[in-house]
Order: sequence, then structure tokens, then C-alpha cells
Amino acid sequence: MFDWKNWHSLHFQRTELALVHAIPAVEDPLDQLHSAMAYAVRAGGKRIRPLLIYATWQLGQVHPKSQQDIEQVDAAAVAIELIHTYSLVHDDLPAMDNDDLRRGKPTTHKMFNEATALLVGDALQSEAFTIITQMQIPAKLKVELIQELSISAGMHGMCKGQAIDLANVGKVLNLQTLEKMHRLKTGALLRCAIRMGTILGGVPQAQRDLLDQVAQDVGLGFQVTDDILDATQNSETLGKTAGKDEQANKPTFVSLMGLEASQKYAEELLTKSLDTLTQWGPEADPLRAISTWAFTRKS
Ligand code: IPE
Ligand code: IPE
Ligand code: MG
Ligand code: MG
Ligand code: MG
Repeated sequence: MFDWKNWHSLHFQRTELALVHAIPAVEDPLDQLHSAMAYAVRAGGKRIRPLLIYATWQLGQVHPKSQQDIEQVDAAAVAIELIHTYSLVHDDLPAMDNDDLRRGKPTTHKMFNEATALLVGDALQSEAFTIITQMQIPAKLKVELIQELSISAGMHGMCKGQAIDLANVGKVLNLQTLEKMHRLKTGALLRCAIRMGTILGGVPQAQRDLLDQVAQDVGLGFQVTDDILDATQNSETLGKTAGKDEQANKPTFVSLMGLEASQKYAEELLTKSLDTLTQWGPEADPLRAISTWAFTRKS
């Protein structure tokens, strides 16, 4: 039987080690940018995007794979987590959500300063792509990974979603626009994780299309769940300021549909993603477990 606890701990540890290796701690007091990058990256976090890459990679044809293969997955896991961390550092800035608490610690701009936090985001983003260029895989695959990550993070993905979010503070969005915003600001990067896993694992095209459906449902559901948690959990559990969306008048699923309807919608998305995953056998157990966790998590 699949042991989720063990699988999670193994891959979570791999991710942590790879992140520390990518952005090592520095002693140099003059290198504040590096210190702040290390601070942001080590502050914790669920590492769900890296975990999605490992879980999807395992579905590929070339499994079981060598140590060298999994080290390439580590690099991709680091790359996407650096992009995600950059998005959080910028999301917390006063010009955006103005948050003091992230992953249970002071936000990067609180710990350092705003200019440093801006640069941390910029440099984490560049570093993510540098890491992909240094992977020991065929150049064609590197280009595919870079393409997935850059498109998902940029003007047609996460950044676009963040812009819609900020432009609509205090406004009531219709469901279609709200869903689009969530698919972009959060869904795009989660979807990207699954797509990067399929590229590295050499997953056949027909299966990639099905996995992409799962990725889209989990990606949207992840932000719907984030909205629900903001309204239902306390700051200590969340590691970020609870009730912030209502306080800041943010367009969320909870503000538009109410709590109960949002929870029902999240349940529907989870059921849909698990239904699609019935196409696979036990090899997709990690992906099933992560998908379920994306919706049932408490933080
Ligand atoms: C928080 O992401 C911001 C969203 C995109 C919803 P996570 O919930 O993955 O945050 P960490 O990485 O675990 O801190
Ligand atoms: C942020 O959404 C999505 C990102 C791209 C960072 P939120 O603003 O809801 O994320 P939290 O609640 O601050 O983590
Ligand atoms: Mg935000
Ligand atoms: Mg925020
Ligand atoms: Mg939120």
C-alpha cells in the first residue's frame, strides 16, 4: 500500500536539500541580497510545486530511474520553488498585499527592506532559469522547461493574474473573471509543475493531455482553498495573516459565492481531478495524495 507519509518526507527532504544547495547561507554582511534570498527560500513552505514535479515525473516511461535522473528533477523542483518564492516576496510588499507575516516569519521586506525584497524577487527569478540552463539533460528539454516556466510565470500567467487581482480590489468580479484570475495567479504555476514533470519523465502525449486537465483543476482548486483558509483559519496555523482578504476587500471565491458554496466548488474540483486520475494505477498514488492535500490542507 502507498505510504504517503514516507513519500512526502523523502521528496520534501530532497527539495529542502536542493534548495539549500542552490542558495547557500552566506556569512558576508556586505552581501545582503544573498542573505535575504536565503532567508526567503528557507522560511519554510509546503513545497507543493516541487512535490508535483516528482509525482508526475514518476509516471514517465523511463521509470525506475537513475540517481542522475532524479538529480535533474531536483533542479527543476528548485527552479519552480524559486519562482514561487519570488512571487510571494513581491505579493507581500506594501505596494501589493502589504503583509508582515509569511510562512510563520516576518516577510522579507520586514526582515530586510522593500528595495531588497524587490531585488530578492528579481534575482530568484533569474536564478531559476540559470539553474535550468545548467541541468544535465538534452538542450531541447531545457528549452521546453524554460518555455513552460517563463510562460506560466509571466505576462500570460502568474503576473497577469496578480495584475487582475490588484486592479479589482473593492470590486465585485463575475465568476468567470474571478476563475480566470485564480487560474492565472496561482493555477498557472501549479499546472506548470505537472507539465515540467511530464517533460522530464517523458510521459506520452495522450497522458500529458489528461494530466493537464488534472493540473488545471488542482491549480484552480488550490487558490479556491487558499481563499477558504484565509476566511476560516487563524494566523498561527496559516503562517500568514488570517482574514486578510476580507480586510483588504479582495475579490475571492468566499466574497463572491460565500463560504459554503466555495467549499462545495472545491470539493467538485477535487472529485473531478481524482476521477481523471482513475486512468492510472498505483503509480499515480503520489499525485492522488498531493491533489487531495491541495484541497484538504489546513495551511
Ligand atoms: C501561497 O502559496 C500563495 C498562493 C499561490 C495561493 P502556498 O500555499 O503554496 O505557499 P507556501 O509555499 O506553502 O508557503
Ligand atoms: C497570491 O495569492 C498568489 C501569488 C501569485 C503569490 P494570495 O495573495 O491570495 O496569496 P497569499 O494568501 O498572500 O499567500
Ligand atoms: Mg495577493
Ligand atoms: Mg497575498
Ligand atoms: Mg490568499
